[in-house]
Amino acid sequence: MPSTKEDFINKLNKALEWEYASAIQYIQHSAVITGAQYDSISKELVVHANEEIAHAVLVATAISDLGGVPTIEVEKRNISDDSKTMLEQDLEGEEIAIKLYKELIVIAEEQKEYGVRRVMEDILMQEEEHRRDIMNSLGK
Ligand SMILES: [Fe+2]
Ligand SMILES: [Fe+2]
Repeated sequence: MPSTKEDFINKLNKALEWEYASAIQYIQHSAVITGAQYDSISKELVVHANEEIAHAVLVATAISDLGGVPTIEVEKRNISDDSKTMLEQDLEGEEIAIKLYKELIVIAEEQKEYGVRRVMEDILMQEEEHRRDIMNSLGK
């Protein structure tokens, strides 16, 4: 069964909750991550945090344009005492985001919302870059 506009807005709001959460998580992780081998990724996590905020603004605008109300709920955040574990947590967040944006692109296509689809594709590309940055740092 094809998705309704309501399904679309609900899933966009779920993506928005994850964007808020990932921004918060990246700010915390970039501040506390330690170890010489994580020096460059620590700075990169600040870049990610700012990009997640930019994604949140884009998603909130798309929701509003579609006639929905953008949420202020925040999805689950994870912290750790261990630098490698933090990066694993960040990687998990990126995998969730990538899966969600792929689903949103399909729904946008079904709904003939081509402008929103384009925005989702641009965000997806950045999430894939984030995943690559973290995987490189983890030596994966
Ligand atoms: Fe994002
Ligand atoms: Fe991301």
